[in-house]
Amino acid sequence: MTDKIKIMISEEQINDRINELAMLISKDYEGKSVHLVCILKGSVFFSCDLAKRITLPVTMDFMSVSSYGDEKVSSGRVRIVKDLDESIQDKDVLIIEDIIDSGRTLAYLKELLGSRSPRSLNICTLLDKPERRVTDVDVKYVGFEIPDEFVVGYGLDYQQKYRNLPFVGMIE
Ligand code: IMP
Ligand code: MG
Repeated sequence: MTDKIKIMISEEQINDRINELAMLISKDYEGKSVHLVCILKGSVFFSCDLAKRITLPVTMDFMSVSSYGDEKVSSGRVRIVKDLDESIQDKDVLIIEDIIDSGRTLAYLKELLGSRSPRSLNICTLLDKPERRVTDVDVKYVGFEIPDEFVVGYGLDYQQKYRNLPFVGMIE
């Protein structure tokens, strides 16, 4: 059985917005190098596309946390599944996330990584569902604000499916 997916944000819109974000980041971090912390698995596509367009030296590391299991609603608990390989001490760290929903994942990550003495620590998310926020988090770069709908594609999954769609859409 395949679900029907309705496009919310097209491939072209995503591309255009990533170009803008990369320009902003390249300007804000001018003279520095940026250490991207990609949160697996959802932000892989976004991280790679963004990294390619940043015009500064970029290093990347990967971390995997789990808060959802296979449900559409967060359990509220965050667990580290895979930690970073390298120290972030004295680095200008930019956390790259696919979507901020309740805010719990990023609030947790910001506190955890903040305790490891980075030179700076900011967050960049492709999508933001502001209506759903239960924990306050300071997010520096947002691709798109979206309504309270469950979305898939461009890295985002439902039960591990649909990550490879080139657009962001809703399951009908
Ligand atoms: P938060 O901790 O509630 O902010 O949840 C963030 C994580 O929940 C994201 O990294 C996603 O993995 C997942 N998530 C939240 N909303 C959606 C959605 O609409 N589609 C797919 N995954 C989602
Ligand atoms: Mg995620």
